[in-house]
Amino acid sequence: MAVTIVVGAQWGDEAKGKMVDLLSSQARIVARYNGGDNAGHTVVNQYGTFKLRLTPNGFSSPQTACVIGPGVVLNLATLFDEIQMINKAGIDLAGRLWVSPRCHVVMPYHPQVEAAYEEAKGTLATGTTRRGMGPVYADKVSYNGIRLFDFADPETLKEKLAVQLRIKNQFLQSVGKPNLDLNFILNEKLAQYAQIKQFVRESFGLIQDALSSNTEILLEAAQGSLLDNDWGTYPFVTASTTISGGAAAGLGIAPRWVTRVIGVAKAYTTRVGAGPMPTELFDADGEALRKAGAEYGTVTGRPRRCGWFDAALVRFTAQLNGCTDLALTKLDVLDRLPVIRLCTGYRHSSTGEAMRQYWEGDAAWLDQISPVYIEMEGWQQPTTHVRRFSDLPAQAQAYVNKVADLTGVRVSFVSVGAERESIIRI
Ligand code: GDP
Ligand code: IMO
Ligand code: MG
Repeated sequence: MAVTIVVGAQWGDEAKGKMVDLLSSQARIVARYNGGDNAGHTVVNQYGTFKLRLTPNGFSSPQTACVIGPGVVLNLATLFDEIQMINKAGIDLAGRLWVSPRCHVVMPYHPQVEAAYEEAKGTLATGTTRRGMGPVYADKVSYNGIRLFDFADPETLKEKLAVQLRIKNQFLQSVGKPNLDLNFILNEKLAQYAQIKQFVRESFGLIQDALSSNTEILLEAAQGSLLDNDWGTYPFVTASTTISGGAAAGLGIAPRWVTRVIGVAKAYTTRVGAGPMPTELFDADGEALRKAGAEYGTVTGRPRRCGWFDAALVRFTAQLNGCTDLALTKLDVLDRLPVIRLCTGYRHSSTGEAMRQYWEGDAAWLDQISPVYIEMEGWQQPTTHVRRFSDLPAQAQAYVNKVADLTGVRVSFVSVGAERESIIRI
């Protein structure tokens, strides 16, 4: 048994999908434990390019079971679309996909409630993906959720839905939105459920069997640690537990089984949506990163905010997750830059005073600080073809080593392109 968690060490989109796909050929199970279709995980392999939001990225490896654990919230239509897309690529998920009946289901009112709050907040809006994540998790923790279990009995489902609609419709009416119809939603959701029903079964036994035998289990986090509901830059976060600790509850895998935690971090920083981002660049360097890294959101198409690598924050997320390794991704995006900066800490923007660490205060103070940078020489030559660390230009090796020094974690993988093969193992 070996349980590896692949977790985002920044604000999401670190290339977790690529890393999970790469490692999945060794795994018997690949499982998601948090989030929903707010995630967009890109995989480029021999079957093509996939941007998956719910299906775990073990789908390309025929021996691998793909598990969606109870910690994930499900948009049924998204899941069915993905299953069809994967089938079209010639990959069969029958018998390999497991969706926990404990998963809560996103209902049509969830994105609408979310939109009402986002609009009411105006400039203070979180800038969500509008997939209903906040409201569906809020219903879950306040005992108002509807789970896949409920779909087994349409009469009970109807009763539960009726209660929710009584309250939700009053709310929607109060913000000038039309009422939702019980029978319409019921029929739509039952039809969607029928499309995925064959995959709905609890994976707990499968996972416990795997834990007691000599097999590899790979856990795929969604979002990034700085979007974690407890530890991220609240309220500019997501609704789930995104950190490695979430895997235990989100899948029913006790913490003692976890053997490896790979934090995935881009060689620079990006963020989609609102909230503090100390190293954000508003100049030509920022634009160069966005262009070279094709930094546009997978789910919403929004341009991602780009900036230098923030070692102060990644040191924190590495501790938070217990990272045993880092995967430093998109190093090739820095190929053309003559000078590269790394943030090692912060100073108060007006007094110049050295600042505390992020975790000591409210995330809002990240708006009042300026990053302290060190500068490193760029390598100004392509790296995408490189497969051995020693073949990287000396400046690129120095950059990777500096990231390891500053974050306190060994860098075990360097990704130099979107394709599965574009990887350096150290
Ligand atoms: P995830 O949400 O963490 O899985 O990441 P996304 O898929 O949202 O974003 C990562 C993007 O970077 C995708 O478009 C990937 O195809 C791409 N990508 C992954 N690794 C590399 C890399 O090493 N270099 C480059 N240039 N692109 C990469
Ligand atoms: P992956 O798994 C990047 C961001 C949104 C917004 C905040 C809350 O692909 O890394 P939500 O819709 O979750 O309520 O939005 O979180 N966000 C992500 N940013 N990558 C993601 O997922 C994200 N999922 C949510 O942009 O700022
Ligand atoms: Mg993504």
